Amino acid sequence: MTKDDQMAFEAALIARAVPLETLLRRLLDGRTLSGEIARPERLMAAMRHGVLNGGKRLRPFLVMESSALFSADVEPALRVAAALECVHCYSLIHDDLPAMDDDDMRRGQPTVHRAFDEATAILAGDALLTLAFDILADEATMLPAERRAALVLALARAAGAGSMVGGQMLDLEAEQSRPDEAGIIRLQAMKTGALIRFACEAGAIVAGAPSRDRERLAEFGSAIGLAFQLADDLLDLTADAHQMGKATGKDAAAGKATLVALHGPDWARDQLHGLVDQAHALLEPYGEQAALLKQAAQFVAARNN
Ligand code: IPE
Ligand code: IPE
Ligand code: MG
Ligand code: MG
Ligand code: MG
Repeated sequence: MTKDDQMAFEAALIARAVPLETLLRRLLDGRTLSGEIARPERLMAAMRHGVLNGGKRLRPFLVMESSALFSADVEPALRVAAALECVHCYSLIHDDLPAMDDDDMRRGQPTVHRAFDEATAILAGDALLTLAFDILADEATMLPAERRAALVLALARAAGAGSMVGGQMLDLEAEQSRPDEAGIIRLQAMKTGALIRFACEAGAIVAGAPSRDRERLAEFGSAIGLAFQLADDLLDLTADAHQMGKATGKDAAAGKATLVALHGPDWARDQLHGLVDQAHALLEPYGEQAALLKQAAQFVAARNN
């Protein structure tokens, strides 16, 4: 990916994030929804701190672009994108807690437990996870009930014990258990890959695309999901905190089991190329319409923050 291509893609990412930010802001305002009793201001402020703080919004972008492939309506896709971003942000808030990675900085700002306190950060994460399923199930998502149910199920399967949360468990255990290459790939497919896979698959679900397309997009998501964590691990080794908006050099210090630790950065860069090729091949049937998704795969591998 040339520097110009990368800049053009980053501009597309930012443009796509604008309506998403507006929607997230609205979903996180203090107003109670029907059936709720009250939304405590401190909790809402902590949730906003963890969400409205300038993430790359890559997962929402993938939802929007994969749904655009099948000409789905934008509004429902945007709500699905927002739901996924809530789960992602919750995972970051909890990942940063002292009992997990113990980080003080995220997206260039104090982590939620630093800006508030640990208990509030735990609760903000809990509430964001719950809110995600609220958003999907709500009639305001304007999709047929079966599609909303399919999204709820797919996100639950991507976020829970058998995927993201389970991957975080294995990631913690791996500091002691020293998994081999296959073990690391599996834990990364769980902790990071699963939500990115969901992002891509969700576009096909929103659009009611045939199951073959849904599977193809999910596979694309798995490939770039692995690439995403590989790049993250590489950046932990090579980038500085200012560039990343979060501390770096922590994986080696903590004895994290990563492919970069196992095989070194050159091997990791080779793997990244292979994963991008694999991801591109999966999008061949969609031709030019998949141009931005193809660029997303390159961006994931070449990103510098
Ligand atoms: C960071 O994700 C967590 C990982 C899965 C490695 P991102 O790099 O997408 O974080 P934001 O959302 O842009 O802050
Ligand atoms: C985080 O992996 C994965 C999830 C939050 C599920 P990392 O621990 O490597 O992410 P960063 O480096 O803190 O963003
Ligand atoms: Mg972690
Ligand atoms: Mg971390
Ligand atoms: Mg990391």
